[in-house]
Amino acid sequence: MKFFIDTANMEEIKEAFSLGVVAGVTTNPSLVAKEKNVSFEDRLREITALVPGSVSAEVIALDAEGMIKEGKELAAIAPNITIKVPMTPDGLKAVHAFSKEGIKTNVTLIFSANQALLAARAGATYVSPFVGRLDDIGHNGLDLISTIAEIFAIHDISTEIIAASIRHPQHVTDAALRGAHIATVPYKVIQQLFNHPLTDKGIEAFLADWNARS
Ligand code: E4P
Repeated sequence: MKFFIDTANMEEIKEAFSLGVVAGVTTNPSLVAKEKNVSFEDRLREITALVPGSVSAEVIALDAEGMIKEGKELAAIAPNITIKVPMTPDGLKAVHAFSKEGIKTNVTLIFSANQALLAARAGATYVSPFVGRLDDIGHNGLDLISTIAEIFAIHDISTEIIAASIRHPQHVTDAALRGAHIATVPYKVIQQLFNHPLTDKGIEAFLADWNARS
């Protein structure tokens, strides 16, 4: 499983990429809205100048024609822009049009296996099932990852699964075990992945022994 970072914040993106473990970026309108004094387009230029992998940029239009127009404009910013489209009939019409033009797509707000299957058949490059938001309403978000992974394997579907709405490190481990190709992870959770008290204790003990040598 690969890591993407789920943010539109440049400091977080720079720091995460300097770690060498992150392969792409996902944004959404809520994440972009947190970034002040910069246009969406300029932020995408900044991100794609730094990140060679997939950078998801979400359309705002709700009709297929509007999504296609917006998506083409966003895709023209850089070759590694992936157009993020909501899971609706119009969204899938747009995905189908983008796939015919070789524009990569990420179908977002996936909450069922049938939605993922439909998105894949429309030609989606990625589907993003939202693990945390399903957990929030008493469902099991990770079970959805397993189901989609099984269906895609049975039917030899090449669409990649991005485990989204990741809230804590255990989501990351479980998404990997259940067959997600990618987890898109907030910066805070990426930081948490590094932590283990025995690592800190071990470093402390090694240094203490080193400093006490005769
Ligand atoms: C990523 O593609 C999603 O937009 C994001 O993971 C949603 O996360 P949230 O449920 O924490 O807002």
